[in-house]
Amino acid sequence: MKMIDLRSDTVTQPTPEMREAMYRAEAGDDVLGEDPTVNRLEEMAAQRMGQEAALLVVSGTMGNLVALLAHCGRGNEVILGDRSHTFLFEQGGMAALGGIVPRLIPNQPDGTLRLTDIEGAIRGDNVHFPRTRLVCLENTHNMCNGTPLTVEYTAQVASLAHERGLRVHLDGARVFNAAAALGVDVRDVAQDVDSVMFCLSKGLCAPVGSILCGSAEFIAEARRARKVVGGGMRQAGILAAAGIVALEQIAPRLAEDHVRAKRLAAGLAEIPGVDVAPVATNILYFWLTKETSKTQDEVVDGLKERGVLLMGRLDGRFRAVTHYWITDEDVERTLQAMREIMA
Ligand SMILES: Cc1ncc(COP(=O)(O)O)c(C=O)c1O
Repeated sequence: MKMIDLRSDTVTQPTPEMREAMYRAEAGDDVLGEDPTVNRLEEMAAQRMGQEAALLVVSGTMGNLVALLAHCGRGNEVILGDRSHTFLFEQGGMAALGGIVPRLIPNQPDGTLRLTDIEGAIRGDNVHFPRTRLVCLENTHNMCNGTPLTVEYTAQVASLAHERGLRVHLDGARVFNAAAALGVDVRDVAQDVDSVMFCLSKGLCAPVGSILCGSAEFIAEARRARKVVGGGMRQAGILAAAGIVALEQIAPRLAEDHVRAKRLAAGLAEIPGVDVAPVATNILYFWLTKETSKTQDEVVDGLKERGVLLMGRLDGRFRAVTHYWITDEDVERTLQAMREIMA
């Protein structure tokens, strides 16, 4: 029985085309700037994002960390959402390793930060205060139902930040999903921010890697930060080759995953005892209502017995994520399994 793995888009296996490209990749010492495949991927990524330069890093966590290290000095403050991945799930790396102070403001249910909250969190010039340096956004917003932030909203935040002498970093782990859901070019989503990180190894299916984009000056600084956290890779062209395939072949098809997530959501919403959050991209949250006596464990275990994996026990919610390897038939099988469990 095929396991239907809806736990995350990070479980995606590389495609056969990626494996072939990796096998054939030209490689060199990337710390010396001599890996032609990495250089090609970085140029391609910068161009796609409409930014000057790009840097291949090991992971999204490393991309966000080196971005913050490059933007901020020790004792500087970063304004970010209280449900952001960077705050919740990256071990507080900015503080632990960079001496950077997180200043939390509430994420709204759609993943946005209120402009008035951002404004209110910006520090004045006072010897008692850390200096505010940066605002971080997340698009799509993982913990806020995978919602995409609009181009207009991002522009508003950037304009407020820039007026106040701050920069904006975008955790765009799934920024290609955001662009697909908004029906715009990814460049439009990234055009107003000073740096953007996106992941090759989530919905884009590559085995390893994320990319940080920004100005040439910023990327030079980030390259130093990557080295000090041990992220300088040598013959990384083997990995970059898969990243090139990801951009060329997988990025254009992400809307299909969104259609399947919506179909799954619609089917789940019809099952008594199940409530579903609004779905805009490939991330779907649902939960059990008071009408049912079923427990979360019964659902997670029942699904597993029927060959379906998802994330349970996330503050009372379940998360299912569609991706390249989830077919229409898998969606139907998942719904059938849920109907059986909830009956
Ligand atoms: C929004 C967001 N940012 C950053 C990351 C970190 O990426 P990685 O797991 O590659 O470190 C994730 C991972 O799930 C994420 O969802």
